[in-house]
Amino acid sequence: MARPLSLEDPGPDWAGARVLVRADLNAPLDGQKVTDDARIRASVPTIAALLEAGAGVAVCSHLGRPKGKVNPEFSLGPCAVRLGDLLGQSVELLSDCVGPDVKRRVSGLSAGQVVMLENTRFHEGEEANDPKFAAQLADGFTHYVNDAFGAAHRAHASTEGVARLLPSRAGLLLAREVDVLGGLLANPKPPFVAVLGGSKVSDKLPLIESLLERCDRVIIGGAMCFTFLAAMGDSVGSSLHEGEEGQQMARALQERAVQLNCMLQLPVDVLIADRFEADAALRVVPSDSIPAKWMGVDIGPQASASYSEAISKAETVLWNGPMGAFEIPPFAEGTRAVAKAMAEASADTVVGGGDSGAAVAQMGLAREFTHVSTGGGAALELLEGKTLPGVAALPSA
Ligand code: 3PG
Repeated sequence: MARPLSLEDPGPDWAGARVLVRADLNAPLDGQKVTDDARIRASVPTIAALLEAGAGVAVCSHLGRPKGKVNPEFSLGPCAVRLGDLLGQSVELLSDCVGPDVKRRVSGLSAGQVVMLENTRFHEGEEANDPKFAAQLADGFTHYVNDAFGAAHRAHASTEGVARLLPSRAGLLLAREVDVLGGLLANPKPPFVAVLGGSKVSDKLPLIESLLERCDRVIIGGAMCFTFLAAMGDSVGSSLHEGEEGQQMARALQERAVQLNCMLQLPVDVLIADRFEADAALRVVPSDSIPAKWMGVDIGPQASASYSEAISKAETVLWNGPMGAFEIPPFAEGTRAVAKAMAEASADTVVGGGDSGAAVAQMGLAREFTHVSTGGGAALELLEGKTLPGVAALPSA
């Protein structure tokens, strides 16, 4: 994969430049409060480096899915406050991302000054990647820096269209994400182990196919293991699992794993519950004999030990998707065991974003990993081997 030209490569003299930075500040909010600031934190190094180098910066982003209409519920206000705290300088939120007032403010940006533009998705032109809207966004800027890895799989005006209108670069975060995740596909150090969870085989099919070709072992947990078990004729009780279509996919994946000489590992035991509640009755049973009316909610202790051992012997580990319904504390042990084994491993350890990224952050282990991706869908698409439009639009080295 061609590497996007990044801020680290020799390039523009940023002193006096007016730079539009596209970040992915799509953070979870509780009213006016940011409840997980991981993405905002991850956007700081690029913004700080540009300010330090003497640029004036306007940060733009989407937040949620307001569908082309102004909706105060999706205002970037709380993110501007949090970014200001992290940068140690106040970040004024402008009331729009395009228009004459924004152009006037942008044209007057001084060295080291930073403002935030309001949610790009308040305009229909954003998701439509309308060239006129992209031109309005570019108006008044001398350069564009894309650091929004989490939105790089969207061909939108602020992630793709504008890159074609201004001299453009990848931000430090986007460049690192592409280096690390792209490196897993191109030249992982063996043994390469992938740990995959999630609810549906059908959702992860292209990812599993891509990883079977590259890994020595693919370990399965999460609700999707029950589709694999059902496909082998095992009784899965009332565990969440897919019907015939998903089970056919699971069988095809097992055949593909044999052809590729990749070990596709399922849990030998599972934690089952009589209800999907924190106070449910719990039992550990072999994974091929889940009684009727009981549901699998996590991998069992033997599976956790075996998965942890495989992780400890690997040189490269990729994790995507929790092992069980970890948001309910009694069902979180398998996910915790995988996170702990990865945190203690000497291997290169990469978390492919989404729920497993949230699990690692919740357990306070994020610093123990080589890389925790800020991308959910973007990380998956990159690992599936797809080209991300936001990356493809940037000049490559
Ligand atoms: C994400 O949260 O995965 C990104 O910010 C992209 O958001 P979207 O799925 O609404 O495009």
